[in-house]
Amino acid sequence: MDDWTKIRNDFPALERTINGRPVVYLDSACMALKPRQVINAMNEYYEMYPACGGRSIHKFGEEASNAYSAARGKFAKFINAAEQDECIWTRNATESLNIVASSVKLPKGSKIITTSLEHHSGSLPFVERAKRDGHKCEIIKAQPDGTFDIEDWKKAIDNNTSLISVVHSSNVTGTVAPMKEIVELAHDRGARVMSDDAQYAPHHPLDVQAIDVDFSAMSVHKMCGPTGMGVLYGKMEHLESMDMCMYGGDTVSDVRFENNKILPEYLPPPAKFEAGLQNYAGAIGAGAAADYLQSIGMHKIEKHERSLLEIALKRLLEMEHVDILGTDDITIKTGLVTFNVDTVSSAHDVATFLNDELNVMVRSGWHCAGPFHYQMGIDPKKGTVRASFYLYNNRSDVDVFLKGLGSLIEASL
Ligand SMILES: Cc1ncc(COP(=O)(O)O)c(C=O)c1O
Repeated sequence: MDDWTKIRNDFPALERTINGRPVVYLDSACMALKPRQVINAMNEYYEMYPACGGRSIHKFGEEASNAYSAARGKFAKFINAAEQDECIWTRNATESLNIVASSVKLPKGSKIITTSLEHHSGSLPFVERAKRDGHKCEIIKAQPDGTFDIEDWKKAIDNNTSLISVVHSSNVTGTVAPMKEIVELAHDRGARVMSDDAQYAPHHPLDVQAIDVDFSAMSVHKMCGPTGMGVLYGKMEHLESMDMCMYGGDTVSDVRFENNKILPEYLPPPAKFEAGLQNYAGAIGAGAAADYLQSIGMHKIEKHERSLLEIALKRLLEMEHVDILGTDDITIKTGLVTFNVDTVSSAHDVATFLNDELNVMVRSGWHCAGPFHYQMGIDPKKGTVRASFYLYNNRSDVDVFLKGLGSLIEASL
């Protein structure tokens, strides 16, 4: 049995058959399947020590605190953060992006930059922050193939720029942004960069120190981890200077009552961003997911996905009536392909056919990326179809998907 077959066997959902057929899961860019290693780690918490971390001194409490902290350490190692306290547990990447957009201190009248390629979660919090505090907001237009012209960044980032939100790997085109160059340009002008790594972190080796990025938002649920979990990475100096966005239990070292006043003393990060009882099972699952991916190796995962993407892209490019969105240069692309079939009226019809006939699960819609669909003249209501690959997909998945698409096109002529 080869390594990839062994890996595939880690995912119980892939053992299912529906209507007598196996499932072909090509929607990992939305939500990744979960391996037994992650499910077991979470079950162990629920079965063996389902207590509160950081408060109760009893044995269950101590085990929960230790596992919660160890999970943070595993995740920090996964992205090579300088210290584990630079990783804040959140509910999802959206929350991570919102925390930065709403709580980072910015000079009055300074400029925020974002792009037309962002997921709504990567643009809207920053657009709204600009509106709230009277900042200028500049939108960099992506190229039609989903790449960026670095000259546009050079022009846009000026001495008045304070914050940039940019998607590292697009959930629509799969294109990987030149993040290190953008960060260098930003730092030369004193601006900070928030990298939306929701699609990048699950599929590529991510080293936040090597890129020198200021903030990174990640979706643990797209990385074989549990639902309802995300991570915000931030350089410690930035996290320390940020405002808090939630107050309450576990955020304080002391709360005095003097002269009829309540006087709190707040804890440093990560506690200042993690108010109240936490999703302990979720964090433990996130740590297990980081360990799982690292045990396979992110370079190896990236290579495997690109090999599937290469086959899929080559055949899709040869198919008549298929319009691909985004670059076909796989060296700057995450393992996903987005397209439309010009003989089928909407992306949902394509996804429904593949699902109903073959258990091929792809995503259809506007992928929370309205601006890029409008920029490309695609009616967001008709949307686009996205097939995304992960470590558990194999050649047969790609073949079933393409064969199904071929027969749909034939039937639609
Ligand atoms: C590029 C990108 N950014 C942000 C998000 C939001 O992630 P979450 O669902 O974890 O909030 C997604 C989700 O699909 C995404 O693809």
